[in-house]
Amino acid sequence: MTAHSIAVIAGDGIGKEVVPAAIECLERIAELHSLDLEFTYFDWGSDYYLRHGRMMPVDGLEQLARHDAIFLGAVGSPEVPDTESLWGLLIPIRREFQQYINLRPVKTLDGVRSPLASKEPIDILIVRENNEGEYSEVGGRAYRGQPHETAVQETIFTRQGVSRAAHFAAALASSRRGLLTSATKSNGIIHTMPFWDEVVEVTVRLYPDVTLVSELVDALAAHLVLKPWTLDVIVASNLLGDILSDLGSSVTGSIGLAPSANLNPDGDFPSLFEPVHGSAPDIAGKGLANPVGQIWSGAMMLQHLGHPEAAEHLQLAFESALREGLGTRDVGGPSSTAEFTAAVLAAIDVYH
Ligand code: NAI
Ligand code: MG
Repeated sequence: MTAHSIAVIAGDGIGKEVVPAAIECLERIAELHSLDLEFTYFDWGSDYYLRHGRMMPVDGLEQLARHDAIFLGAVGSPEVPDTESLWGLLIPIRREFQQYINLRPVKTLDGVRSPLASKEPIDILIVRENNEGEYSEVGGRAYRGQPHETAVQETIFTRQGVSRAAHFAAALASSRRGLLTSATKSNGIIHTMPFWDEVVEVTVRLYPDVTLVSELVDALAAHLVLKPWTLDVIVASNLLGDILSDLGSSVTGSIGLAPSANLNPDGDFPSLFEPVHGSAPDIAGKGLANPVGQIWSGAMMLQHLGHPEAAEHLQLAFESALREGLGTRDVGGPSSTAEFTAAVLAAIDVYH
């Protein structure tokens, strides 16, 4: 048996509902594929913050570094400023562990109502640069509270940061349909974005089988709604990739479906797997949360840990539960979180 130690942080809101649902599925898959998944649970997040004044302990990153992967629900609570919850847990993990790729699949699933009229299948991989860009600590505020109060925030792009994201995206495109679309805004953002364009271009030249198209992000947003089936792999900066992936998941049906992997492709640190959605305080505690984004993130984690068959098995199972119309309310189905999870568990046994 291959043993994998997995750090689990359910976090806040619906994270506490969808994480246990996904763990049930992962445990059943592990049993059937003889995988030894050891889950270690951490009660970090906003409740921890309200008790201790921090989102995780001082040595939180050291504790996480001992694991092979991190499985996260979501963080964020109406009682804690979002800057604290994001910069106190998720962003330090992404940066300290050099998880410089945020991979976000956008795919149509049978049995899920899409807001689009067209039924063309959508299969896109969004590669979001995850360590730098617009999410930076460089900047400041001056003249607080005065009429001439000023805020400045710098965007940071480095050649190394942009080129490694472009390499990853180009290699993916090369293994798929060979089309790479780079999100840019070099007409308005005249220093960092032309630099992004240049570095992406020289990097992708090393992949002769990949066609690179640079698209202004406003046009690309429209493209994602009007003709998403013509897109293959998208590479985008931290902010643009974040926005495009919420849009992409909504186009395929619901943000509750979308998974993501925060990858350290070099394997120096654990990678982190989490759904795209947040803690959804509006529906938390009601049994309404769609666990697909979390379960699918679990399948991506199995894939990353070197178990493609187990990943495929889990993927087949939740896709079949959706196809049978057993989804949660956000995708037009009748099920609660628990009922949908039971349907996935049943499908896991059927496909075995
Ligand atoms: P959100 O993703 O939590 O919710 C947006 C909308 O989608 C809500 O109407 C919610 O009910 C619905 N929704 C989300 N996930 C769903 C699911 N699995 N099933 C059914 N419906 C679902 O985004 P929002 O409201 O902007 O943020 C809420 C909190 O989450 C904030 O504190 C925010 O900072 C945090 N957040 C955390 C993230 C993370 O931990 N990675 C990512 C995004 C937001
Ligand atoms: Mg987002």
